[in-house]
Amino acid sequence: MSGDSEQDGLEEYRASFDGEPGYLDWAAFGPLSPAVRTELHADAELLGSGRRSGIAMVDARVREARELLAELLKADIDEVTLQPSTSYGLAQAIYGLDGGVVVGRRDFPALTVAVARAAAARGRVVPQVIDPADGHITPDAVREALTDDTCAVAVSLVDFRTGFRADLAGLREVIGEDRLLIVDAIQGFGVVDVDYTAADVVCGHGYKWLRAGRGTGFAWFSPRARERIEPVLSGFAGMDAEGFTDVVERPAPTARAFTVTEADPLAAARLATALRGVRDAGVAVIAAEVAERAGDIMFFADRYEIPVVTPREPEQRAGIVSLQPRPQDVAPLAASLANHGLTVTARGDLIRVATHVGTDADTLRLFGDALAAFSYARVW
Ligand SMILES: Cc1ncc(COP(=O)(O)O)c(C=O)c1O
Repeated sequence: MSGDSEQDGLEEYRASFDGEPGYLDWAAFGPLSPAVRTELHADAELLGSGRRSGIAMVDARVREARELLAELLKADIDEVTLQPSTSYGLAQAIYGLDGGVVVGRRDFPALTVAVARAAAARGRVVPQVIDPADGHITPDAVREALTDDTCAVAVSLVDFRTGFRADLAGLREVIGEDRLLIVDAIQGFGVVDVDYTAADVVCGHGYKWLRAGRGTGFAWFSPRARERIEPVLSGFAGMDAEGFTDVVERPAPTARAFTVTEADPLAAARLATALRGVRDAGVAVIAAEVAERAGDIMFFADRYEIPVVTPREPEQRAGIVSLQPRPQDVAPLAASLANHGLTVTARGDLIRVATHVGTDADTLRLFGDALAAFSYARVW
């Protein structure tokens, strides 16, 4: 893309953020984009028509979503599946492992619970839980935990709590080619520019940063993942068979093996629409913008002396900036943010702020005002 068309693409994408100023909670939920809302209504009408052609048009969205995912992941379409959510995709991958699985104790429970339950259910997965002091699942932290029995590392691309972004290439380097790298990418997909081919399984969901609503999960399984992971949760849609059969066939040789039933075409339509917007604007362009807005949040936090736990280096973070005020300051700061019309997530001792391309000057001004008001009333 030339500089001008990159700028045009970015401005078009930015213009698609039509919510009110003050929304800084993209890590929790992404308000649906106008294109997704329009698509949803149009496809619902088609499905209401009772015309086979209309139903087929909506069904075609499933393939379209998979094609776009494949393009963004630099993968083959046969390696990409749609899933009800990230957690479903992760379960498909983790239950079928055989050996030690390194996972962070404080990583999102979609990972830790799947590892624990898979261990209990089949006795083949052995949890290798690590708990680095800062919670960061770095290549060094993983290297220390590896044993001859380790078959996989399961990690979030961007940590939901601290905003730390994992180094996929570095993790691949330490685990080598004989182990699998399973990545929960929900907090980064579409807003960080990363080479997913360092991983073997990448799962995500479109209801946060992609602005596509729930039900828009997906999972990619590399050839190595398909070789090594037994599709133990495979359903009828995952069989190596065309149409319906009275015989229980073996699972398909493609990633379809890791599906249970057919995908929801209305959800696929929302996902396809969202992904097209991201592809057209360009992930690198979006990522640079998101990183810059996150930097703006850090600037205000520094100005008002509120500690930030998210790493400063742009390659170690994405759209999440987590603030860790003194314990006595958490409630007053959360109150000041709410009073200024800002939506964030306050959980435990952290206040998680999540920016996107649509985080505009008005929102940043409100954020600065909220921090100034908090700071003015703060007792040292
Ligand atoms: C890192 C991470 N993984 C998984 C999930 C849950 O994903 P899903 O609802 O798609 O299963 C979340 C939700 O916040 C998350 O932050």
